Amino acid sequence: MTKEFEGYISELPKGCITETDIYTDKGVLLCPKMTVMDENTLEKLSNYKGPVQVVISYTEEPVEEVIIQPDKDESIEFDNSFKEYAVETLSNLYANVDDVDTLTIGATEMGEEVYSIVKSATSLCINLEKLKVSDVYTYKHAVDVGTMAAVLAKVIGESDSFVREVTVSGLLHDIGKEKIPAEIINKPAKLTKEEFEIIKTHPIHGYKLLLGAALISEEVRQGILNHHENVDGTGYPRGLVDDRIGKMAQIISIVDVYDALVTERAYKSAMSPSQAIEIMFTMSNKFNMDYFRAFLSIINAFPNGTEVLLSTGEIAIVMRQNKSYPLRPVIKLRDSEKIINLARDTSYLSTVILRAA
Ligand SMILES: [Fe+2]
Repeated sequence: MTKEFEGYISELPKGCITETDIYTDKGVLLCPKMTVMDENTLEKLSNYKGPVQVVISYTEEPVEEVIIQPDKDESIEFDNSFKEYAVETLSNLYANVDDVDTLTIGATEMGEEVYSIVKSATSLCINLEKLKVSDVYTYKHAVDVGTMAAVLAKVIGESDSFVREVTVSGLLHDIGKEKIPAEIINKPAKLTKEEFEIIKTHPIHGYKLLLGAALISEEVRQGILNHHENVDGTGYPRGLVDDRIGKMAQIISIVDVYDALVTERAYKSAMSPSQAIEIMFTMSNKFNMDYFRAFLSIINAFPNGTEVLLSTGEIAIVMRQNKSYPLRPVIKLRDSEKIINLARDTSYLSTVILRAA
C-alpha cells in the first residue's frame, strides 16, 4: 500500500520504502527514492530535524500506526504574574498621565519586562490570545502593540536598544487619548467629522505629555507622534511620507492597525487574524512593505491544533506553520486524516481556510 507522508523522519514507519526523493526545506536531497527505511537509515536521517514530504509504500502493514500530532504552538505567552503586573502598572500610569516621572518610569520598566520576554522567546510568533492582559481595551491594546512592535523590530534585525525603545513607544503610543474627552473616545457609534478631527490630535497630545521626560528619547516620542502617518502621505497629523515617518512609527502603525482590526469594540465586531491580514493587504500602500512582509511571518493566524473550516467545506486541524505563508499552514483533514501542505500541495492551491471552525 502507498500513501503520502508529511511529518518528521522519526515518524516514518520502520520498514517502509520511499517512492519519491526526500528533500530538506532548503531543497537539498536528503534521501533518494526506493530507499528502505530500516533502523540504520532512519537513525542516520534523523539528524535532519525539519518536516519532510514523501510518498511511501509498505511491504507489509506497519505494526504500529503512527498518529501524527500537531506541533506545539510556540507563540509568545505572558504568565499570570506578568499580566497582573502589567495591569497594575498601566492603571497607575493612566491615572497619572500628567506626572511625567510616574508615566515614564512605569512605561520604561514595563518595556524592559516585555523586552526580556521577547528576547528569551524560543519562537517569535504572535497569537494575541496568549498576550491578553485584561478585558480593558486600553490596557490590552497598549500591551499588544508594545509586544508586537518589539517582536517585529527583532525580526527585521534592529538592535537591542532599538527593540527596547520601540517597546516603550508602543506601550505609550495612544497615551495622548487621555487628553481627548471620554465621550468621544468611548462613543459607540460613528464619529462626526468634528469629533474625528479632535481624535486626530491624540498623537500630538502624546508627544507633548512626554516632552522633558529624561527617560524618553526623541525617537520614542516620534514613534508616538507619527504612529498614524502612512507612507503614502494619507495619514495624520502631518501627512508625512516614507522615511520622514521614522522606523518606530512605521512599525507601530502596522501592529496598531492589526490589533484594532482583530479586537472587538462597542461599535464593531472583531475580525479573525486571516480577515485582518487580507484587509491589510488592501491597505499595504500605507505601510512600509518590508516591515509588512516581516509582520506576516510573525502572525500566527491559525495556531497549531486549531480546527479550521476550509473553502471546500471540510474541517481540518492545523499541524504546523509555513512561515512565509501564514494563511496556508500544513493541515490534517478531520475525516480522512490526509495531511495537506496548503502552501505546496498543487491540488489544494485554490483551497483557502475560511475561519476557525
Ligand atoms: Fe492611535
